[in-house]
Amino acid sequence: MQVITRIKGLVQILPAGLRCVKGKEMQRLEVLQDAFLLVEDGKIADFGTMEQWKSKAAEYAGAEETDAKGGFVFPAFCDSHTHIVYAGSREIEYNDKIRGLSYEEIAKRGGGILNSADRLRQASEDELFESAWERLQTMCAYGTGAAEIKSGYGLDLANELKMLRVIARLKEKSPMTIRANFLAAHAVPREYIGRQTEYVDLIVREMIPAVAAEKLADFVDVFCDQGFFTVEDTERILEAGAKYGLRPKIHANELAASGGIQVGVKHQALSVDHLEYVGKAEIEALSGGGTMPTVLPGAAFFLGMPLSPVREMMEAGLPVALASDFNPGSSPSGNMQFVMSLGCIRYRMYPEEVVHATTINTACDNKVAAVYLNGKKVL
Ligand code: NIG
Ligand code: FE
Repeated sequence: MQVITRIKGLVQILPAGLRCVKGKEMQRLEVLQDAFLLVEDGKIADFGTMEQWKSKAAEYAGAEETDAKGGFVFPAFCDSHTHIVYAGSREIEYNDKIRGLSYEEIAKRGGGILNSADRLRQASEDELFESAWERLQTMCAYGTGAAEIKSGYGLDLANELKMLRVIARLKEKSPMTIRANFLAAHAVPREYIGRQTEYVDLIVREMIPAVAAEKLADFVDVFCDQGFFTVEDTERILEAGAKYGLRPKIHANELAASGGIQVGVKHQALSVDHLEYVGKAEIEALSGGGTMPTVLPGAAFFLGMPLSPVREMMEAGLPVALASDFNPGSSPSGNMQFVMSLGCIRYRMYPEEVVHATTINTACDNKVAAVYLNGKKVL
């Protein structure tokens, strides 16, 4: 048993069992002043004011005490969208962007995801593990306690499995809560260019069964967008994943109103992510289901994309989540504090809203939670 005492502010007191925070509710963030927090078997056992602790201290005399010395205790960030297993960054593409090429144009010229796939195929599992481990430590230092990590730079069975095994090793070694997302449908690999349907066949018939047989993935993902995978491709992949119990979390509507949001909601995706192109139809689709609208402010910032209409979504009563999209090209940062700042400064979200958006809402239905104090995991 552990107790944290002399907490100036215990941040985000919410009713037990709440799934997520929606709409106007996101503007309310309860902070308990001058508090204690009691932890038993990795779970919050009790909390209250220091005044209340006085009458409980004797009962919990054996608890290991951490004096917060007037510091705040926040929930750790849950970063629900990352691509941290990769071999080498793609800063070179920023020159192309400065010259005026779009993300799609860079991808068409063999840059972007295919560039990362070329490099990843050359890298050994150990090399990938070491570099991803370093990234995870940096994320943790900035306050992230739980993360989803995607495959998607292998783009063939052997290399997708290699990436997923790296994620399995990260899960094993790290005290962080980690979820693996299988994203072979990130781009059509060079050897299948012009034969997209055959690549989808490969994912459906060979890759998903192989990944499921080794229990290497928790989720399945598709980049359902203009110039990448279609709604039909997405449906086939999500249906194949569902047979093996893989819930979808998908990339949608970053480049166009792709139908990705609607297909995600239809297949009960945990989340649909990016959402730069959201109008009335998309908001209506999201209102009917439990899918979490997840915005990736880092990707929009580094790519100079239009901003997702987060205020409209919240005004329609929807929850909104914010994740980093940490990847070697379009979002080279896993700093969730920066994500919060972008949320406030560029998207004009209130501080209270970005706290919910980066914690309970990104964790929604993923069964992850963690509390950190001064960089040390206490829960
Ligand atoms: O979420 N949009 C698609 N996929 C990734 C990009 C990954 C990359 O550029 O390497 C994303 O931004
Ligand atoms: Fe992504």
